[in-house]
Amino acid sequence: MNIFNDTAALRKELSNKQTIAFVPTMGNLHDGHIALIEHAKQQADYVVVSIFVNRLQFLPNEDFAQYPRTLDNDCKLLSMVGVDTIFAPNEKTLYPEQQDFLLTLPAVADTLEGKFRPGFFCGVATVVLKLFNIVQPQLALFGKKDYQQLHIIRTMVRQLNLPIKIDACKVIRASDGFALSSRNAYLTQTQRTEAGKLYHILQQTKKEINSGCKNFESLQKKAIDYLTQRGWEVDYFTIQNSKTLLPAKTDDESLIALTAAWLGKTRLIDNIEI
Ligand code: PAJ
Repeated sequence: MNIFNDTAALRKELSNKQTIAFVPTMGNLHDGHIALIEHAKQQADYVVVSIFVNRLQFLPNEDFAQYPRTLDNDCKLLSMVGVDTIFAPNEKTLYPEQQDFLLTLPAVADTLEGKFRPGFFCGVATVVLKLFNIVQPQLALFGKKDYQQLHIIRTMVRQLNLPIKIDACKVIRASDGFALSSRNAYLTQTQRTEAGKLYHILQQTKKEINSGCKNFESLQKKAIDYLTQRGWEVDYFTIQNSKTLLPAKTDDESLIALTAAWLGKTRLIDNIEI
C-alpha cells in the first residue's frame, strides 16, 4: 500500500492504472467508510482513498481544530482492508496559495445543511473537484449518510461534464440504529445511548407516511417535539422529495426525511429514505 502526500508522486503512480475507484474521506475511519471501500474494491482493480480534513468546509466557529485526526490508525486499517493507495495531503499540498477560486453552487446548497452551515457545500464541492482532478478516477463512492452532499456532488459531476461515475452506499449503522460518524468520538456515554433515538424517530416518521399519513407538517412537528423533549436541539427535521431535495408534496413518489440535531455540543445528521 502506498501513502502519498505529494501530488506529483501520486499522479506518477496512477498514470498507468486502468480503472481507479476513489473514496474521499476526512479520516478517523469507521465501518461507514469501510463499506464504501469494500464497494470500491468490487468495482475496480485499483482503489485510492484520500484523507484530508478540509478547512474550507468548516465555519470559523466549527470543530476544524478538534476534528479527530488519526492518520496512523487509519493507515493500519486501510492496509488491512486492502487499499492500493492513500492520498493524505497536507494543507500546503492542497492549498499552496489561498483558494479564492471557488465554485458557485445551485440553490439547493443553501437549504438544509447549507442553511445552518453557510459555505459548507462550496468548501465540499471545491475540495472534491480538486481531488477528482488530482486522482482522475473513473468511479467515486459517497455515503447516503450525507445525502445532500451526495446530491450536490452528483449535480456537479453532471453539470460540469466530469467523466466520473458516482456510486452511493447505504448508511451504515450501529446496532441501535445510530448512523456511524467520525463525530461520534465527541459523545459521552449517556449521549451515545440517547443518539440512537434520532434514527428511532426517523423510522417512526417513515412508518406513519407508509401507513398513509400525508400531513408532513404535523409529522415534522411531532418529531421535533419528541427530540426537543428529550433534550436535543433540532436544526431541522424535514420531509423532502428525495430526487430534488425540495420540500415534499403530497403526490411526490419518492420521499426522504432528513434531520440535523445537537446533542450537547455535538451536531448529528441522519436521514431515512421512504
Ligand atoms: P467524511 O465525513 O469522512 O465521509 C467520507 C465518506 O464516508 C462520505 O461519502 C460519507 O457520506 C461517508 N460516510 C460517513 N459515515 C457514513 C455511514 N455511517 N454510512 C455510510 N457512509 C458514511 O464527507 C466527507 O468526509 C467530506 O465532506 C468529503 C467528501 C471527504 C470532502 O471533504
